[in-house]
Order: sequence, then structure tokens, then C-alpha cells
Amino acid sequence: MGMSVIISEATDQDAEQIFKLQYLCFQSEAALYGNYRIDPLVQTLDSVRQEVATDCVFVARLGDEVIGSVRGAVTEDGAASISRLCVHPRMQGHGIGARLLRAAEAALAEERGAKKFRLHTGHRSESNLRLYRRVGYETVGTSEGTDGVPMIVLEKKAGSYAATA
Ligand SMILES: CC(C)(COP(=O)(O)OP(=O)(O)OC[C@H]1O[C@@H](n2cnc3c(N)ncnc32)[C@H](O)[C@@H]1OP(=O)(O)O)[C@@H](O)C(=O)NCCC(=O)NCCS
Repeated sequence: MGMSVIISEATDQDAEQIFKLQYLCFQSEAALYGNYRIDPLVQTLDSVRQEVATDCVFVARLGDEVIGSVRGAVTEDGAASISRLCVHPRMQGHGIGARLLRAAEAALAEERGAKKFRLHTGHRSESNLRLYRRVGYETVGTSEGTDGVPMIVLEKKAGSYAATA
């Protein structure tokens, strides 16, 4: 891969790149569901900025370019909700998604006291489900996204780190 990919906490200056990356990466999910109004595609830049300021947001960087991102926030029941995991289509399949997840989980557990992690993914997103199961998540139920897409809810206890590929 030449230059190495560095994972770090996002700063205010990253918000615009995260916003654009998210828009690019979630096109494949939109196509899968025939729904181009899914949450990651309609989120505003201001809303991304706000999340970078308050939530636990990580980026993967290759040089100056943000090529991956994920965010998490602790919810009322003490679980951390992790969302918007994305990696630039050119950079997928190199383990960057799994690394981003691990970075977010570690920060949410160590800095924000999360006892477990929760993720949602569309019911037809087989490769996402494979990735989440491989890193230790188990299905706990279903829900419906605000965009109407049926979602699968997965959880993992903090500290239960399965071996990753
Ligand atoms: C989901 C997403 C973030 C995964 O990112 P990624 O960096 O490709 O993830 P990983 O590389 O960790 O894992 C993906 C695949 O690469 C494989 N892989 C990981 N490291 C590898 C390596 N070094 N060599 C070869 N393959 C590797 C994994 O086994 C996995 O294979 P699988 O799909 O058969 O299970 C990315 O596909 C994406 O942005 N998708 C669109 C947005 C989206 O749906 N996000 C999730 C919302 S819930």
C-alpha cells in the first residue's frame, strides 16, 4: 500500500472530508436498498461537525486524505452506539474497517465507560454482518431505520475482543 494508514481521533478540520467520504461510501448501501435517502446520505455537514465535537469520532488517514471513519456515543443505557463505519471504496478489504472499529471500541470503553457496544446494519448487508461477527458482535434483535430500511442490531460486551483477521 506504500504509505501507511494511520488511525486517530478526528478533529474539527476533518468534518468536511468525513462528510464527503460518507456520501461516497454509502452509495453502495443506497444501491443495495434502492433508497438514496438513507441516513448517512442525508446527514448535513453541520450535523457531522457537531458529532465530531461531541462524539467519539475516529478517522483513518493516508497522508492528508481521510480514507475511513467511524463514530460512537454512549447512550442512556450505558451501551455505546457505533455508526457510520466507512472506508473509501479503493481502500476496502485491507482490514481498515476492523481497525477503525477497534479504535472506537477502545476509546468508548476507556474514556467514556461504555460497558457494551451496539451496531445497526441493513438486513441485506452481508459483508457488514460478516465483518461485525468476525470481530465478536452477535445479533440481538431487529429495528427499522428512520429511512424505513429494516436493520439488524448487534452487540458485543466491552472486553470481549475476538481474534480478528
Ligand atoms: C463496511 C466497510 C467500512 C468495511 O471496510 P473495510 O476496510 O473493507 O473492512 P475490512 O477490510 O476490515 O473487512 C472487509 C473484508 O476484507 C477482508 N480483509 C481484511 N483484511 C484483509 C487483508 N489484509 N487481506 C485480504 N482481505 C482482508 C475481510 O476478511 C473482509 O472480508 P469479507 O467481506 O469477506 O468478510 C466498507 O465496506 C464500507 O465503507 N462500506 C460502505 C458503507 C457501509 O456499509 N458501512 C457500514 C454501515 S453499518
